[in-house]
Parts: sequence; C-alpha cells; structure tokens
Amino acid sequence: MKYHKLTENAVKPEGFWGRLMIRSMNKGHSDMTDWALDYIKFENGYRVLDVGCGGGKTVAKLCGKVGSGKVYGIDYSDLCVQKSLKANKKNVLCGKADIRKASVSELPFENESFDLVTAVETYYFWPDKLNDLIEIKRTLRRGGRLLLVFEMLKDDNDPDRWKKVEERLNIKAVSREEITEMLQRAGYQNIRTHTKSGTSRLCAVAEKE
Ligand SMILES: C[S@@+](CC[C@H](N)C(=O)[O-])C[C@H]1O[C@@H](n2cnc3c(N)ncnc32)[C@H](O)[C@@H]1O
Repeated sequence: MKYHKLTENAVKPEGFWGRLMIRSMNKGHSDMTDWALDYIKFENGYRVLDVGCGGGKTVAKLCGKVGSGKVYGIDYSDLCVQKSLKANKKNVLCGKADIRKASVSELPFENESFDLVTAVETYYFWPDKLNDLIEIKRTLRRGGRLLLVFEMLKDDNDPDRWKKVEERLNIKAVSREEITEMLQRAGYQNIRTHTKSGTSRLCAVAEKE
C-alpha cells in the first residue's frame, strides 16, 4: 500500500505521499542527473529550461553551471512548483531561477528562448509525446539542445522488468530506438544516445537545426 501510494505520486505529486515522493526523487535522481549533464558542455550565460522539474534539484544543479545565465523550471503539479521554489529560494530571489506552473504541452515561453532544455524522468507521463517534443523545440534557439534522461530503459533480457510500474502508472519503459525515432519525427537533428553499463539509464541529446 505504501509502495503503491508513493509510486502513484511520481505522475503528479500531491499531498503527503507527493511530499515523500519529491524527497525520494530529489535524492534518487541526483546521481543519474549528474551523469547525464556531463554530456552537455555549458557556456556562461546559458538560458536553460527544466521540464517536469519535480522538487527542483535539477534546477539547482543547472544554476551552478550557467554562470551569468538563467534557469527556468516548469511542472504541472502545484506541490512541485512550491517545493522547487523553496529548494531554489536564493536563486529565485536574485532572479537567476524562475519556477512556473505549466504543462509541457503548452510552455509559457517565447520561441527560441533557450540554449538547453532538460527533462529528467518525466517523458513517460507526457500526454502527447510527439507534439510535446515539438513544443519544446519551439522554445529552443537554433543549435539549442534537448537532454532527455530515463531510468526505465527496456531490458531485452528481461521483458517484464518494468511490468508492475508500467501497469500501475499506465506508462511504458523506453528503448534507445523508440526515443531516437520520436526525436527524428519531431524534427530534431544530431541525435545521440548514451547508456551506462550496469544500470538501466538512458539519456538522449538532440539538437534543433
Ligand atoms: C518522476 S517525476 C521527476 C521529477 C524531476 N524531474 C526529478 O528528476 O526528480 C516526474 C515529474 O514530471 C512532472 N510532469 C508529468 N507530466 C507533466 C506534464 N505534462 N507537464 C509538466 N510536468 C509534468 C510531474 O509532476 C513530476 O514532477
């Protein structure tokens, strides 16, 4: 029961179990996020958006990488917005971070606003993945990049590995090929994927031409 309540709150954290989930995600995704961010060469002044920012830990990491730049975070959960604001209080107060309630399907930003968009462990939940990838592309400048990070990589040797969580949350684990194809269909270029041996991690970096 506890496990189910916690897991269900990965989709849209709310209430008591949502708070616990946010704490658990901030801790549990940190190492994987660092691994994926190492594939990005940051430049001073970068403007970055973190989609599905959860408890705001990725926003905090990004603030440490952009120098004089600015980091935005969006999430459709009120609780996540509240927790992300708290986790990034100093940077929000000085204008280096900006956290807003929004859906990935309708980003409240002008065209070509960002050098980089990151999305850690959130893609599975998006309502219209192809259009959501296109919506993100709209907000990237030419040459800007999207970094997608996953911990639910399909395992050919164990097809049932993610079955329970897939059924519980009505989501699907991903494969390198599927993600590459979706990014291609959404019009991204220079798509690169990376996995880490001994883990189920996948990250994809794709560019807007
Ligand atoms: C598993 S959590 C990951 C949170 C954070 N990225 C991390 O790594 O800790 C998924 C997050 O995506 C958010 N999310 C899911 N669907 C979304 C959507 N359509 N628009 C915006 N945020 C969404 C959820 O509210 C949740 O905070």
